[in-house]
Amino acid sequence: KRVAILISGGGSNMVTLADSMVGDHPARPCLVLSNVPGAGGLAKAEARGIPTAVVDHRGFKGDREGFEKALVSAIDPHVPDILCLAGFMRILTPLFITHYVGKMLNIHPSLLPKYKGLNTHARALEAGDTEAGCSVHEVTAELDGGPILGQARVPIRPGDTPDRLAARVLEQEHRLYPAVLRRFAAGDRTPVHLS
Ligand code: GRF
Repeated sequence: KRVAILISGGGSNMVTLADSMVGDHPARPCLVLSNVPGAGGLAKAEARGIPTAVVDHRGFKGDREGFEKALVSAIDPHVPDILCLAGFMRILTPLFITHYVGKMLNIHPSLLPKYKGLNTHARALEAGDTEAGCSVHEVTAELDGGPILGQARVPIRPGDTPDRLAARVLEQEHRLYPAVLRRFAAGDRTPVHLS
């Protein structure tokens, strides 16, 4: 299976996904694409010999459809079987999602269905939650919706700040996403639960 990974920033999830696709793993990375030129993850992908692409969303001000058509034009020549959104910070419309329906995953730093959207860690702390975590889900038209394919939980500790909690959750993202991708690439949609 061929996996395209979409990023916007440092790409730590992309790195752990790419580095997990070795040996008898049924998938290999075929593309890393960023909507941000110069995103740190691009250099990490190039260092791994993975083809890269940039589609700068700023070139499509107000033209979301044009941006998504440019994404498709940049992605499809690499003929991916699976798309992994990994720290990809653009909202995708049904136009893009239907093009890849059933083969697009995303990782979100909360225990969905709680805290869809942004600032998930601050919201969990604000709510006085005792645990937090991350979720990998299939991407559907509903933002941070779609069937959940895996979750990992972490304790919230007294004195936690959003940054400290984010770092604790990110460690689990790096465990969860490769575990889910391996199953998904093998055609197994049984949810993964880590704690
Ligand atoms: C992190 O906040 C992570 O929780 C979320 O995307 C952001 C950047 O991740 N999934 P990455 O280091 O670019 O993979």
